[in-house]
Amino acid sequence: MKALITAGGKGTRLRPITYTSNKHLIPIANKPMIAYAVDAVVGAGIKDIGIVINPDTGREMERALNDMNSWGARFTFIVQEAPQGLAHVVKVSRSFIGEEPFIFYLGDNVIVKGIDGFLKDFLQSGDNAHLVLARVKEPQRFGVAAIKEGRIVSVEEKPARPKSEYAVTGIYFYDQTIFEAVENITPSDRGELEISDAHQYLIDKGYRVGYSEATGWWKDTGKPEDLLEANRLVLDQMLDGREDAISGDVDEKTDIAGKVIIEGGAKVSNSSLRGPLIIGKGCVVENSYIGPYTSIDAECLIRDSEVEYSVVMEQCHIVEADVRIERSLLGRGAKIIKGYSRPRTQRFIIGDQSTIVLA
Ligand code: TTP
Repeated sequence: MKALITAGGKGTRLRPITYTSNKHLIPIANKPMIAYAVDAVVGAGIKDIGIVINPDTGREMERALNDMNSWGARFTFIVQEAPQGLAHVVKVSRSFIGEEPFIFYLGDNVIVKGIDGFLKDFLQSGDNAHLVLARVKEPQRFGVAAIKEGRIVSVEEKPARPKSEYAVTGIYFYDQTIFEAVENITPSDRGELEISDAHQYLIDKGYRVGYSEATGWWKDTGKPEDLLEANRLVLDQMLDGREDAISGDVDEKTDIAGKVIIEGGAKVSNSSLRGPLIIGKGCVVENSYIGPYTSIDAECLIRDSEVEYSVVMEQCHIVEADVRIERSLLGRGAKIIKGYSRPRTQRFIIGDQSTIVLA
């Protein structure tokens, strides 16, 4: 059996970070988002994996995945020339998939309990398509499934009046009938071949479309607030049942409470750390407060500052920031530093579509 993982798309909701990098390489607890998707499919016993990439950031993804391939997976990179929708992703991957059933996994979905149970359900069910559903508070933000007698009887994309509280997650299991569906649907109003339309096609043709329910947490990390929430959930669970993992240097003036990971080569002095949090290799943290649910990736400098509930990517500098930085996402090499010149003004050099919220 093979798996297909998406790593293309536009990533508009995570601009400006996605102007310069593939969204799926944004770290969650200092590990690229895509690695959670690979963990999930490899955890279900599948190592023959197609990665769908777009032409501009595909190379970066290829390099990153080949570099971190401790899974022993075989990656095949499939270029989708333009982001024409998830059903289009399936369409362009047909020759890679061949004749067998397969897993289709959206690379920006993080599910901590794994997917092997869902795969078993699919294989036992005799379903043509088997979707993983999750109960959510705001179903109107998602594709929503209506269920009758254990089967999915309709799926609607972001309905104003949802027929159930079951969102369709980004984890799907298919046999060959999905290829018939993606050949027979037409683009939606936004010009994409929608996977919900492919599912509805299968239902209308009388194919079996079943489901499993994700009872643990699942997160679609397409938006900054969801990414921060996924970071929180991963940090929480990563440290479950484990002692602190402190490989870096921490001086005696630093006090630590809660679960903390400090990677090798990091130096922390005269600071307060309140876990769960992770500080990456080669970071320098001085005279600062790092609060719960914070991930600081490699080689950052945090001095005389306070950071909480944030994702800080590699090589950022936060120096003498007068206000606590919270609910923030900092792209690689970003700097927030105090200036001393007069008059005392705020000075910004920020990329297109950045957001700064002043306190
Ligand atoms: P989305 O989150 O729906 O889209 P996106 O990633 O382009 O982001 P945004 O809406 O902010 O612009 O995509 C879900 C997953 O599917 C994600 O892994 C990207 C991927 N994808 C493709 O690979 N090709 C596509 O044509 C589309 C639409 C998405």
